[in-house]
Amino acid sequence: MGEGSLRYVESVARNYERVMVLSSKSMRIHGFLNEVMDYAEEAGAEVDAIEGLPAEPAYEDVEEILPRIREFSPDLLIALGGGSVIDITKAIKVFYEVPDLRFEEVAFLDRFTKPVRIIPKLKTPLIAIPSTSGAGSEVSAASVLKKDGAKYNLVSYEIAPEYAILDPRLPRTMSEKIARNSGLDVLVHGIEAYTTKVATPFSDAMALGAIKTVFKWLPLSVKGDGKAREKIHYAATMAGIAFLNARLGICHSLSHKAAWIGPHGLLNATFLPYVIHFNMKDEDTRKKYTKIAREIGFNTSEELLEVIKEFNEMLGVPKLNELVGEETFLSKLDEMAEKAYNDPLINFNPVEPSIEDIKELYRKAYYGE
Ligand SMILES: [Fe+2]
Repeated sequence: MGEGSLRYVESVARNYERVMVLSSKSMRIHGFLNEVMDYAEEAGAEVDAIEGLPAEPAYEDVEEILPRIREFSPDLLIALGGGSVIDITKAIKVFYEVPDLRFEEVAFLDRFTKPVRIIPKLKTPLIAIPSTSGAGSEVSAASVLKKDGAKYNLVSYEIAPEYAILDPRLPRTMSEKIARNSGLDVLVHGIEAYTTKVATPFSDAMALGAIKTVFKWLPLSVKGDGKAREKIHYAATMAGIAFLNARLGICHSLSHKAAWIGPHGLLNATFLPYVIHFNMKDEDTRKKYTKIAREIGFNTSEELLEVIKEFNEMLGVPKLNELVGEETFLSKLDEMAEKAYNDPLINFNPVEPSIEDIKELYRKAYYGE
């Protein structure tokens, strides 16, 4: 981590012969793709790159890219870009090394059925270099991919990147909107990881650190302040370490199954106040929200709820009903609620919801009640 830490690519690449860089278009435009390729070449490796990977990738995108990866046959992968680029590279690593696997066999499609195959041991290391500050994918063991409009997870320590490079020069290229949306995702990662059934003192420390940093620095980071961008960049990885261990909850279930409506972080932010209100019925969870409130200078869980609503407003987060028309939303409500109810992350949420609870949460978030 640190200013200029991108050069660490060279010392890793020294041990490999064929380096494939998967990059977002924006990282090429800002010169960071060339910089990474130069470091790998200076290390003596043969280097190729695929750029312009899709945001919010689908499994079909993996299938489209795989032939080029197989043709080049890399022994080191580098993902350079936002969470989507890192996620798709993780999936590519799986299907590149194990060609006979099918997505449906290894993905966590719902919480009641285990994948029929586990991802076997993989050998191609992955360097993750995030350019946005949110997903935490650079440290997480999950890859989120779309299939038929909903998002599903591949989860395995085999896909957790072997290296994460946090160079604050990269997130300084984010637009205000991406800085806001991804920063809000960090907040939700922190709050959800802090309150799951499997949280530990270790994940708690990381979660609280990330939450405090977001409240203090996100508004400045959105405006483009370089120091604030650096703080949020590290907070995103801290929250990633928190949820790698403590997992996430119902807010992510709601947003993953509503992925067709808008950007991930933004959806999470719109659902968060309703989720906190819902989870507050559990006394232990209410205490945890109170602890978060105290960490940021307030006293009660109710105050935390208000602060989060105000934070959303201050950052100009639109309401759900500004993102999608009523008729469309209602026509999809039953399907979304059922998929969210089946989502594996519900297992970690402190309160077990019914399908009706989930529908109600979607409705409340939509009508802003
Ligand atoms: Fe997230």
